[in-house]
Order: sequence, then C-alpha cells, then structure tokens
Amino acid sequence: MATGHERGSFGGALGFILAAAGSAVGLGNLWKFPYLCYRTGGGTGPEGTGAGAFVLSYIAAVLLLGIPVMLAEIILGRRSRQGPVGAFKTLAQGKRWHWVGALGVTTGFVLLSYYCVVAGWTGEYLVQAASGTFGSITPEGANTLFSTFLANPGKQVGWLVVVMGVTMLIVAGGVSAGIERMSKIMMPALLLMMLGLLVLALTLPGGGQALAYLFRPDFTNFGMSTVLDAMGQAFFSLSLGMGAIITYGSYVEKRELVITSAFSIAIIDTLVALMASVVIFSILFSFNTTMEGSGISNIFTAIPILFAKLPGGSFTVVVFYVLVVLAAITSTISLLEVVVSHFIDRLGWHRRKAVLLLGGAITLLGIPSALSFNVLADYTLFGKTFFDLADYLCANWALPLGGLFTALFAGWFLARHHKTEELGSGPFFRYWQFTVRFVSPLLIVGIMVWILLAA
Ligand code: PHE
Repeated sequence: MATGHERGSFGGALGFILAAAGSAVGLGNLWKFPYLCYRTGGGTGPEGTGAGAFVLSYIAAVLLLGIPVMLAEIILGRRSRQGPVGAFKTLAQGKRWHWVGALGVTTGFVLLSYYCVVAGWTGEYLVQAASGTFGSITPEGANTLFSTFLANPGKQVGWLVVVMGVTMLIVAGGVSAGIERMSKIMMPALLLMMLGLLVLALTLPGGGQALAYLFRPDFTNFGMSTVLDAMGQAFFSLSLGMGAIITYGSYVEKRELVITSAFSIAIIDTLVALMASVVIFSILFSFNTTMEGSGISNIFTAIPILFAKLPGGSFTVVVFYVLVVLAAITSTISLLEVVVSHFIDRLGWHRRKAVLLLGGAITLLGIPSALSFNVLADYTLFGKTFFDLADYLCANWALPLGGLFTALFAGWFLARHHKTEELGSGPFFRYWQFTVRFVSPLLIVGIMVWILLAA
C-alpha cells in the first residue's frame, strides 16, 4: 500500500475548500442543472409551466442529503487518509464495507467517460468563441451551430480524447501541485464572472420572467421523477456518493474546519447553479428563443446570443468559455483522481502507470457516449441513448446508492470518537448523526422504492 510522496496533501483549509468546490462546481451546475430545469419546467415557450418544483426539491435535497453526506465523506477521508475503498476498509474494522468504495470507484469510471464528452463541447465552444464565430450570431444560428456540431462524430470523439488527455496530464502531476493551484485561481474568477453575468441578466427584459420561471412554486409538472432528478442532481453536483470528497478529504492535513468547509462548498455550488440558470433563462425569455434538443444545449446556445449583443462581447465570451472549460476540468480531474488514487493506494501502482492505463480505458468507454448524438443516436435502451443511460444510471441511481451506504456507515457503524473528534459532541453533532442515521437513508430508500414501484 503506497502512501507518503505518492499521495500528497493540500496546503490548508482554503486549498481544500477551493479544490473541493472546484470538483463540485462543473458541468453539473452550468449545464446539467439549467438543463434539468428546462426539462422539468416544460421549456420557455407557452407550453412551459416553470421549474420551481424542481428547484425547490433540489434545495431540499442539498440540505437533507447533500450536506450531511458531504460531512460523512470528509470525515471518512480525513480519518482514514485513504481513497474510498481504503477508507471503508480501514474504518470498518474487518467488516465488509469496502465494496461501497468499490461501487464509488466504478461509478467514477463510468461517470467520467460521458462527462468528458460534454466537457469537450466546452472546448469546441471556446475555440468557436476565440475565432469570432459568435460576433453577430442569431438565436437560430446558435441552434444550428450546436446541432451541426453534435452531428459530427469525428469532432465528438476528437474532443473526448483532448479532454481526457489534459485531465491525465494534470492528474499525473499530483494533488497539491496540480489540483489545488488551479482551483485557487479558477474558482474566484468563475464566481466573479457569474456575478457580473447575473447583474447583466437581471437588467434584461426577460429577467423577471426568468426568476418567476425558476422560483415560483408551481407543481403542475411535479412528480416522483422530479424528486429522483433532484436527488440525483444534488449528489452529482456536489460530487457525492462516489468517493471524490472522501479522496479530497484524505488530503486534508489537520482538522480544519470540517463543518465550515462542507457548508461553504455546498453554498458555492448551489449559488453557481442558480446563477447560471437565472442567466440562461433570462436570455431565453429576453430573446424569445427556445433551445435545441429539449434543453441539452442551454449553456452552448443561449450564452453566445447574449454576448453577441454586448459591446466588447466577442472578447468577454472567450473569457466566459475559458472559465467553463476550467470548471469542467477541475471536475474531470477529481473524477480521475478517485479512480487513480485507488490503484495507487490499494495496488501500489505508480501514479503515471495508473493515469495512463485507467485514463486510456475511460477514453475508450467514452466513445459510445460521444457517438450517442450522431451515429449511435438511434440505438436506444429503455428509450435512452448510451449517453443518457450512463448519465441516468450514474447520477440517479449509483450516486444516491453510494450516498445511502456512506450515510448508514457513518451514522451507525463508524466508531463514535472518529465523529466527535471531527465535529465535536455538541448539538450540531447530534443533529448530523440523527440525519445520517434516519433522515437521509429513509429519504433515499423511499424515493427509490417509490420509483421502482411506479415503473
Ligand atoms: N460535481 C461535478 C459537476 O457538477 C461532477 C462530479 C460528480 C465530479 C462526481 C466529481 C464526482 O460538474
């Protein structure tokens, strides 16, 4: 079992918060959250009723599932100083819990394979922005650009390979050198840029409509699948249920502000998702446009329209897509890091070898997802393409299951002193323990059983 220089650590609490927030903030916030809003809300045309039910379910999921499970993951990582499999193995005292970690590593493997496809779209859009394509783009032009791009198998696979290549290079560089340094620059920049866009979006004529669309509690479209989506998205967006936060927690040296870290990460992550949605929907309402492919294109088709109208927009849109690319890359890094650190810790592989072999395998698995929008578009299972199915299984089922077992383990089986040494033994500890013992598990199981019975 390799430790020491092969593992590395973060410089301090801020480094950890920003790196973990870097993992959390990504395409989940900028692309998937607005996309789920659009899908649940029924679009921005006259047929749309609003995404309030989804947004409110999401916030409830962050509070009742996300934050408690995040605390559990940080504790498991810090106490064991291991990735997910090692963490469960070390802390479960001989009981067979490590398969929960193995489920996490497997989920990370699959999730990264399709996540990189969307990350590749951000790369293409950065190149398009830099070459001035968006200068005077119309809403129709933006839709055509996106669908033509999706239909091109060579570009889809090419970008997948590029994104995986960059991710592998950074992860090969090790934890504090690569991940922490990059997150420290990129997270503040992203937050600032989102704030600027938010102010701008709210002054657009459709700003008020966007807010109403997102926050009005309208339950016309509400159903159990809204709740499943919200739960899956909370785990996905906060990088929970697959050991990413366990792994990052294992790089935290001292007992540094565990509670503050968990809340900061969750707040930053939720704010970015909400800000991105307000911006995107303000644009859609203001320019009276709808999106390609039931909303999947949102951050790609809506944003250029706004920048095209702004003075100096052709420059700022480049900055924007640089930040989106970086947000995507800080997430792909954390996904690959979970898989790689498992092989380093448990099998004693060298970092380079682990990165090369596992990164290569993940790239191969990504190919059917990259082709799901073109050559393989008609090959569906349960009405879903390979890409959709991988996302549905990872986000809506595998991550919540991982979160369920993490909560149960931390609540019922982890020795008490591990928890009190991290959280103290006051009222917050008792509240958290009650939540991971009862509230989170019952909610997750309840939602899953409900969905299965309704199927
Ligand atoms: N949280 C990341 C996002 O929102 C995705 C992710 C999931 C990263 C799971 C790591 C682990 O984009």
